[in-house]
Amino acid sequence: MTTLSPSDIAKKACAEMAGSFVKDGMNVGLGTGSTAVFLVDYLGQRVKDGLNIRAAATSTRTAQQARACGIEVCDLNDLGRLDITIDGADEFDRDLQLIKGGGGAHLQEKIVAAASDKMVVIADVSKAVDRLGAFPLPVEALCFGRQSTLRHLQQAVADLGYADKPITLRQKDGADVITDEGNCIFDLHMGQITDATSLAAALKSIPGVVEHGLFLRLAQAVVVGRPDGSTLVYDAADSQGVAAQIFA
Ligand code: 5RP
Repeated sequence: MTTLSPSDIAKKACAEMAGSFVKDGMNVGLGTGSTAVFLVDYLGQRVKDGLNIRAAATSTRTAQQARACGIEVCDLNDLGRLDITIDGADEFDRDLQLIKGGGGAHLQEKIVAAASDKMVVIADVSKAVDRLGAFPLPVEALCFGRQSTLRHLQQAVADLGYADKPITLRQKDGADVITDEGNCIFDLHMGQITDATSLAAALKSIPGVVEHGLFLRLAQAVVVGRPDGSTLVYDAADSQGVAAQIFA
C-alpha cells in the first residue's frame, strides 16, 4: 500500500466527496490533473460496483484513465447536456472564479464545463486565493503566427494597466508544450488580476488566441480538501459558512 502525501490526502478526499455527488444514469464530465486522477479512480471503482454513467473526458489522458477503469467514455457530441462536471483548478476565489490550465487542458475543460448543468471544482485548500493571478494564467494559442499573438497579448495586458508582466511560452524538456488540439500555450505571469472579466474579454478578442484559463461564472461549488482528509463545500452564497476556514 502506498502512503499518500498530505497534499494527496487532501486531493483524494475532495475528489471522492465530489464523486459521491454522481448518481446512476448521469452524464458526467471528467476533469484533468492530479486531483481528477483520484476522481476517475473513485468513479471507476463505483462503476465496477454497478454505477451506470456515461462520461465525457477533458483530455486524452483522462479518457485513457477512465476507459482503463471501466468507465464508458463518449464523444461529447453524442451526450448532449452533461449533468455534472467535476474538475480541478489551479486557483479559486470567493466569487468562484478560477484559473485553470496548469495541465494544459483548459480548452476542452471549458467546453465540457460549459456543456454541463453544474460544474463542481475539486481543489486542495492551498488553491484558495483572495485574488487570482499568482498562478501564471495559461492562454492556448495557435502555433501559426504565435510571435504576433504574443505581441498582442503583451499589448492587451499593458493596455489594462498591468505593467511589466512576463509572458512565457510553455516548454517541457526543452520542447514546446503542444495541447491535444495541436496548439501552444503562453503563461501570463500576472501576479494579481484586478479585474478578471475585462482581462478575459481582452484576451478572447486577440486573433490566434484559442482559449484562456480564466473560468468565470462556470463553477457552482468547490469541494475543498484538507491535508487531514476532511472536506468543506464552498458555494457562492457560502451556504455552509466555511469561507473563513478557506480564505486567509
Ligand atoms: C488542467 C487543469 C487542472 O485541473 C489544474 O491544473 C489542477 O490540476 P491539479 O489537480 O493537478 O492541481 O486545469 O488543465
